[in-house]
Amino acid sequence: MNRDLIAKLIYDVPDFPKPGVVFKDITPLLGSPEGFRLTVDELVASAPEGIDVVVGMEARGFIFAAPVALALGAGFVPVRKPGKLPGEVLSHSFELEYGSETLTIHRDAIRPGARVLVVDDVLATGGTVGATAELLSAMGAELVHVSVVMELGFLGGRERLSAAGIDNCTALVTV
Ligand code: PRP
Ligand code: MG
Repeated sequence: MNRDLIAKLIYDVPDFPKPGVVFKDITPLLGSPEGFRLTVDELVASAPEGIDVVVGMEARGFIFAAPVALALGAGFVPVRKPGKLPGEVLSHSFELEYGSETLTIHRDAIRPGARVLVVDDVLATGGTVGATAELLSAMGAELVHVSVVMELGFLGGRERLSAAGIDNCTALVTV
C-alpha cells in the first residue's frame, strides 16, 4: 500500500531530457509530506542491522540518503561528481549510454571494515551504484546493502550489480 502511493507520486514525463526518453520525476513525491515520509520510512526499514555509514550519490541520492542516515543513527558520506570535494579523493569512471561519468569520494571518509548502506533515487543501468561500489571497495569498506526508491528493471541494473557481486538490493518500486 505504501509502495503503491510512492509509485503514484513518481510521474512519467515523456521526451525529457530528450526525445524518446520517459523521465521519472520524483518531485511530486518530495513535495508530498506523506509520500516523502513513507519513502524514507521504507528505505530505513530496508536497511540491515548495524549500518555505520549511509552513502548517497549526487544529486538526487542526497535527498533520500541524508534522512535515512539520520534515522539509522549512521553517518552520511557524499559521493560527488568531479571537482566538488576539497580533500584527497578516490575517483571511478564509467560509461553512460552517451559519454562517460566520473564519481569521487573523500579517500579517508570511511574507515576500512565499516558497514555501508548505499541509497539512491533510481537504479537504471547500475552504472552509478556500480561505480560507488568500486569506490567503497577501494576504501576497504563493506557494502552491505543498496536501497533505491525506483528500479527501471528493463535496463538491467540489477543483473549488472549481481555480476559485480552485489546481490543485496532493495527497490521500493520496480517498473
Ligand atoms: C540518475 C539517478 C541515478 C542514476 C541512475 O543520476 O539519480 O543516480 O541516474 O542511472 P544508472 O543506474 O544508469 O547509473 P544523474 O547523475 O543522471 O542525475 P542527478 O545528478 O540528478 O542525480
Ligand atoms: Mg543520480
